This record gives sequence, C-alpha cells and structure tokens, in this order.
Amino acid sequence: MSETAKIEIDGKTFEFPVITGTENEKAIDIKKLRGTTNCITIDPGFKNTGSTTSAITYLDGENGILRYRGYPIEQLAEKATFLEVAYLLIYGELPKESELKDFKKSITNHTLVHEDMKQFFEAYPSQAHPMGVLASMVVSLSTFYPESQDPNRSDEAVDLTIHRLLAKLPTLAAMSYKNAVRHPFIYPKNELGYIENFLNMMFAMPTEDYKPNPVVASALNKLLILHADHEQNCSASTVRIVGSSQANLYASISAGISALWGPLHGGANQAVIEMLDKIQEDGGDLDKWIAKAKDKNDPFRLMGFGHRVYKNFDPRAKIIKKAADDVLEQLGVDDPALDLAKKMEKIALEDPYFIDRGLYPNVDFYSGIIYKALNIPSEMFTVMFALGRLPGWIAQWKEMKENKEPIGRPRQIYTGENERDYVSIEKR
Ligand code: ACO
Repeated sequence: MSETAKIEIDGKTFEFPVITGTENEKAIDIKKLRGTTNCITIDPGFKNTGSTTSAITYLDGENGILRYRGYPIEQLAEKATFLEVAYLLIYGELPKESELKDFKKSITNHTLVHEDMKQFFEAYPSQAHPMGVLASMVVSLSTFYPESQDPNRSDEAVDLTIHRLLAKLPTLAAMSYKNAVRHPFIYPKNELGYIENFLNMMFAMPTEDYKPNPVVASALNKLLILHADHEQNCSASTVRIVGSSQANLYASISAGISALWGPLHGGANQAVIEMLDKIQEDGGDLDKWIAKAKDKNDPFRLMGFGHRVYKNFDPRAKIIKKAADDVLEQLGVDDPALDLAKKMEKIALEDPYFIDRGLYPNVDFYSGIIYKALNIPSEMFTVMFALGRLPGWIAQWKEMKENKEPIGRPRQIYTGENERDYVSIEKR
C-alpha cells in the first residue's frame, strides 16, 4: 500500500499521498489540501515547499551532492565542455559526437546580434550596471524575433530560440562590458570555441589581437559548468514562474537574470570582492569584521558564506577552490585582497558561530576570487554567473512547459484590517 500522511484539523483527520523521488526524497502531496480542508500552508522563503517534480538536477545539501541528469558535478567539471553540459541539461542526455557538432554549429551561427541593438547601448549611462543592461537586452531580443512571443510553437522553433539565447548571451555580456569601459565592440569570431570567443569579445581590441590563455579558458569552462544549474533556486523558480504565465523564453530568462542580480543570490560574488576591498581599506582587521558578522544588531554578513541548502559543504566550492589555487599559481597573481580571503576562510572555518550554523564558503566566495585573477571587473561577476546559469534556466523553463505546469500563483493568509468604511479626506 502506498504511503500516506495524516493531518488533523478541528478533530477531523485528512489523508494525503506521500510521493517519493528516484533518490528516495519524500514529499507530502498537498494538491488537494485546500479543497478538502479549507486550509493552506504557510512557508516563507519556501524552505519546505517543493514547487515541482524535476528530472534535471539532484542536490543533497546534507551530503554535499550535486548531479546534472545523474552525472556527478565533479566528473562533469573535470571532463566535459560547457556546451556539452548545456546540451545535457536542456535535452536530457550527453550529446553524441554528431549531435554536439550540430549544436555547436548552430550556436556559432547565431552569435551576432542585430546591428540596431548597438544603438541601445549608446543610450545607457556610462556607469550602468552590466546586469541591468543584460536583463534589458535579453528581453529586447524578443522584439527582434516576434515569432518567439508564442512559446507554444514547434520543437524546432523553440530550439531556434534556445540556440539564439545561448549564442547571443556571451555577445551581449561582452558588449555590456565594452560599453561600460567605453571601448569599441568586438564582433564574435566563428573560428573560436564558446569560451575563447567570449574572452576575445571581452579583451581583444580592434588594434590588437588577443590570444586567450588556455589556463584562463579552462578555469572559465569549469566555472560555467559549476554554475549551470542548481534546481529550484531563486532565479530558476523565477524563470519557471514567469514562463508559467506563457510569457516567452526571452522574457522568462530576463526575469531570471534580474533575480540572480541580488546580493543574496548571484550578486554575492561581486559582494565578496567589494567586502574584501572594504575590509582592506579599513585596515584589514579581520577579527573586527568577523565580530560584526556575528553581531545580531549589525546587518553585516560575511558575503560568500552560508547557503540555503548546503549546510555541510558546497561541492562546487570544493572544486572551485582547487581551480582558484591553480589559477592564482599559474598566473602568478599576487593580490592582497586574495590573501585576505584566504585568512578569512581559515578564521571562519574554525569559529564555532560559523561551524554551529553550517556556514561554509560557498561557490561565490571562490568564483569572485577567480574572476578577479582573470582581470574580469567586479561588476561583471554576476554576468559571468548568468552566462553559466543560462542552460539551467532554459532546461527548467522547457521542463515546466513539457510538464504542462499551471500558472504559478501562491496564496496568502491575510493579516490586514477588517472591512471598514471609506473616510472622506477632510475627516482623516
Ligand atoms: N554571515 C553571518 N551570519 C550568517 C551568514 C553570513 N554570511 N549567513 C547566515 N548567517 C546566520 C544568520 O544570521 C542566522 O543566524 P541565527 O540562526 O543566529 O539567526 C543563521 O546563520 C541562518 O541564516 P539564514 O539567513 O536563516 O539562512 P538562509 O538559509 O535563509 O540563508 C543565505 C542563506 C541567504 C545564503 C545566507 O547564508 C547569506 O545571506 N549568505 C551571504 C550571502 C551569500 O553568500 N549568498 C550566496 C549564496 S550562494 C548562491 O546564490 C549561488
């Protein structure tokens, strides 16, 4: 007999099915809760709420496990290319050689953005944050491809939108950087791989060729893979919920980019470096800043520490820490902010406050360090995260559509005033 859960309300017992995932995770299926009991559940931050069943990413926060479509993140980061992982996430299986060749070819053929988009960049203030620019540019793509506004087209038409997005996001990201530093745009080069082409658009100048450093390209490949999906996080849930209204894929991804921007989510990697710079400017007294992070009356938190689901360690942080050490060593980087990061990591890992709360350095702590070593400006860090997360967002959107999920629309418990009569302005 299948397992059930019983809930007692006002002396009446109601029974609900328990569903079990392929990794034996359990959930009480409360789809019929309100209909049968007239009650809803309250779960701020959705800490206990499953919004969907999903076959994309498996994450076990207690044991530090992360797998895409069943493949351990450690193996993918070590052996795969980012485009292979993108294919895996979006289409469910690792591509065969011919499939990968076609996928790469299609993406390479769509890297250019419409020339008219260049004019948009001119209108942004020089200090425009590249995440704001990227989110606007991605939603603007829908106006250049009006047929994409119907998300229920044929599989081929949806694939074309997916390939366009994967192809154009690095171009738009690099353009937003070039615009911020007021350098001329560099066009994509079809002979280069996905990562090398992005580095070229970021760092080449019309006057001078740029040769991507293989150490840098390999570290970036790893970083993008590590960021590629993370099940129902804030931005992925945003993409799914926006998409559930049948808004088009460009609009849904743009919303995901905005969600990622926040310092409690993807924006943490920029916040880490800004925090380290601030501590250094303040004299570098780490004990003082650690004490501030522990003080309940001080809003300061150690950026890059803690995670909603990983309460033992973040498996991505383990891989990325090694990549950070390799990059720093191979590039011979000597940066006081990076020394400070290493000291902070050591102190926090030995402090009972952080140990008791399961607060460990997360992926953003080390990714900020690598990006800094790669000469990527801190305002671009979250953009880099968005480049990595794009295949995951697409896979989540596609799955939501294939599952025919209903529009996302949570409920609430109202705690405001009871009914009262309108008071004319002179009597208030
Ligand atoms: N520094 C100091 N204290 C912290 C930190 C931190 N970075 N993070 C959590 N805490 C403390 C809280 O004050 C709380 O203490 P209490 O139990 O005494 O009240 C306890 O640890 C639990 O914290 P919550 O905020 O309830 O944990 P939650 O799971 O909701 O938050 C989050 C997770 C948002 C990541 C949090 O740890 C944080 O703000 N970290 C800093 C920002 C950051 O690095 N974000 C990147 C996340 S990774 C990603 O998005 C890819």
